[in-house]
Amino acid sequence: MNAPEKLPLATSFSLNTWSARQLAQVEQALSRWVACPTAAPAPAGLGDAMRYAVLDGGKRLRPLLVLAACEAVNGNTEAALRSACAVELIHAYSLVHDDMPCMDNDVLRRGKPTVHVQFGEAQAMLAGDAMQALAFEVLTPDEGVDPALQARLCRLLARSSGHAGMAGGQAIDLASIGKPLAEAELRDMHRRKTGALLQASVLMGAACGTVTPQAWNALSDYGAAIGLAFQVVDDILDVTGLSETLGKTAGKDQHTNKPTYVTVLGLEAARRHAAELRDQAHAALARSGLDRAAGLSLLADKVVERDS
Ligand code: IPE
Ligand code: IPE
Ligand code: MG
Ligand code: MG
Ligand code: MG
Repeated sequence: MNAPEKLPLATSFSLNTWSARQLAQVEQALSRWVACPTAAPAPAGLGDAMRYAVLDGGKRLRPLLVLAACEAVNGNTEAALRSACAVELIHAYSLVHDDMPCMDNDVLRRGKPTVHVQFGEAQAMLAGDAMQALAFEVLTPDEGVDPALQARLCRLLARSSGHAGMAGGQAIDLASIGKPLAEAELRDMHRRKTGALLQASVLMGAACGTVTPQAWNALSDYGAAIGLAFQVVDDILDVTGLSETLGKTAGKDQHTNKPTYVTVLGLEAARRHAAELRDQAHAALARSGLDRAAGLSLLADKVVERDS
């Protein structure tokens, strides 16, 4: 096989420097928008649970994808920052619910006790509900983002997080416990439960600018490839990682008898598959014709090479 096509990188681009700058902005915006105790307090301790769930934790990969895609298309940075925070709110809500006793029953998340352990089950459920609603509020400001773009961003986020995406994938996940899935079924589950929101992150960033249909399709392919790769690597790390590094309980999938890329393909084939998906992501970026896609290119490598 030929070496995968890869975009030439601007040698001056440092992913770490760029990410640190972007993430400082995201953290500041989330702190302002998520149940800020002075500006927008939430009643009865709900704000504490929401802020605990979303602030100061996680890799923030989804916001970085939004912002890198926006940069690739030279888009509206206000819309992109709002999109980055909205996607992270949906993701963090999905983690709160994923960890609850009725789902994966986990006690450790982002290196801390899970939200239901810290605040109780009812508060965790409500914090997730409120974070989901807040995501769409953040996307629809009175000014600063064109209403047509607001609607488009809401639609991309809603589709990727509802029954066609994350929630649907989570339903398949729970219905698959103890069942041997065929690879195509596993792929469908992973594309929905994890891939859809990652792909939406890329497309929301792209929607903040103007792109040709060719570039849009290429970015969609890029997002689909890294979205699936991300969950393949999550399955691998569940087997090979340590709880201290992951910030969540390792070995959970085997313990709860979940079908994963490791159980279906085996560890080595799962690793090879993740690398193939990374190559597909690079090839899609090359097809996009965008010349400011260094961030997206390096993020594709990070998705596959990460250890947490
Ligand atoms: C974990 O996502 C859940 C999956 C979708 C696999 P992340 O690994 O992105 O979690 P954080 O945001 O870094 O905590
Ligand atoms: C979760 O998948 C995907 C979500 C939509 C939250 P996992 O259940 O494998 O995620 P972790 O391993 O708990 O982070
Ligand atoms: Mg789960
Ligand atoms: Mg889980
Ligand atoms: Mg997992």
